[in-house]
Amino acid sequence: MDDARDRPEEGRVASANLREAASTGVAAIVAGDAAVYLRARKDPFDFVFLDAEKEDYAAYLDVVVPLLSPGGVLVADNLLSHERT
Ligand SMILES: C[S@@+](CC[C@H](N)C(=O)[O-])C[C@H]1O[C@@H](n2cnc3c(N)ncnc32)[C@H](O)[C@@H]1O
Repeated sequence: MDDARDRPEEGRVASANLREAASTGVAAIVAGDAAVYLRARKDPFDFVFLDAEKEDYAAYLDVVVPLLSPGGVLVADNLLSHERT
């Protein structure tokens, strides 16, 4: 079974990369409830990587899509690997 908890080194590398990107102004790290943050946000996104609980994706789409700038890109992780059978 593929489980990210079995690959802690990948998580550490990803976290370090995100911290580095944030320190150079390419990304911002926001702690807290993503749904609350997104509902309050007014500034558009150029790029969104959605990797949330799969049952919440429809709700996130409702708030994220209106926040995409023209030509903005939304990438969603693992939609098909968690589909209901
Ligand atoms: C599918 S996992 C993605 C994990 C991520 N790729 C990583 O490496 O940490 C979804 C993550 O979103 C978090 N999460 C779920 N609901 C959230 C919310 N409302 N606000 C912020 N994080 C949330 C969960 O705790 C979980 O760590």
